[in-house]
Amino acid sequence: MPTPTISLGDYTIPQVGLGVWKVETNEQFEAAFNAAIEAGYRHFDSAQAYKNEQMLGAAWSVSSIKREDLFLTTKVWLDNFPAGRLKRSVDESLQKLQTDYIDLLLLHFPVIGLRKGAWKALESVKATGKVRSIGVSNYTIRHLEGMKKYASELPIVNQVELHVFLQQPELVDYCRDNGIVLEAYSPLAHGKDMANETVRKLADKYGKSYAQIMLRWCIEEGMVVLPKSVTPSRIQENIDIFDFKFTSDDLQALKACDRDLRTCWSPVHVP
Ligand SMILES: NC(=O)c1ccc[n+]([C@@H]2O[C@H](COP(=O)([O-])OP(=O)(O)OC[C@H]3O[C@@H](n4cnc5c(N)ncnc54)[C@H](OP(=O)(O)O)[C@@H]3O)[C@@H](O)[C@H]2O)c1
Repeated sequence: MPTPTISLGDYTIPQVGLGVWKVETNEQFEAAFNAAIEAGYRHFDSAQAYKNEQMLGAAWSVSSIKREDLFLTTKVWLDNFPAGRLKRSVDESLQKLQTDYIDLLLLHFPVIGLRKGAWKALESVKATGKVRSIGVSNYTIRHLEGMKKYASELPIVNQVELHVFLQQPELVDYCRDNGIVLEAYSPLAHGKDMANETVRKLADKYGKSYAQIMLRWCIEEGMVVLPKSVTPSRIQENIDIFDFKFTSDDLQALKACDRDLRTCWSPVHVP
């Protein structure tokens, strides 16, 4: 069954994507990619910083999947924010990914002093057709509001850490109000809390795993979700989340699990 999608204007993004941060060897990458394709994933989330764009390019180009059936995301690393470097780095990403267009290109972090120029450069890269959509990652409301002063086009996506234990309701509301699709990274909180009583009870209630409850929460919040795994059984498990639905009581109980748990870098103090 195809994964549900979310509109990005004139095309769509599959709601579940495989995160590939820390997938570090060709063998591991190829095995994870093939398991993901088998399980129904068509969306892959890489980054210049992950140093595995070339592994993604190699894996998809020898697969039987057509380019137009894949959704490839990558992110511009901080060192490449100066305009000249950004444009060169996009060409390098295209080469590594073995494609002539990237579906979604994000600025990886709201770098002080450089993010405005980097966004303008991203807009001009988009105009060349090398990128279908542009967005940001790790942007807070303050960073997004700031963009209204200089952006010709606002980001279509903001990829941030989001999970049952870090729900960021103000940011979620802001993005909804401004037509920005949220992508939930580290949706399993890196496995740092796999013992929460509420999540466990819901897993028992629905005959699902702990991870599936965490991921389903993101789906019901209308987000794109990006679980990472190199374990074929987990890759399968992490997309098998579309055959049950929470009640409003379940959602209330999950809402109460929010405790501002950050497991990755925090952008909140970046002016
Ligand atoms: N934009 C950013 O700044 C940013 C930052 C962080 C992450 N991301 C993106 O988000 C993706 C996911 O985030 P993440 O890698 O930080 O963390 P995550 O997906 O929350 O957690 C990954 C960890 O959970 C384990 N796991 C996966 N499925 C599981 C399951 N069903 N049951 C139990 N454990 C499971 C994985 O182990 P195995 O692999 O060993 O199975 C791995 O150790 C990244 O790969 C990346 O694409 C973006």
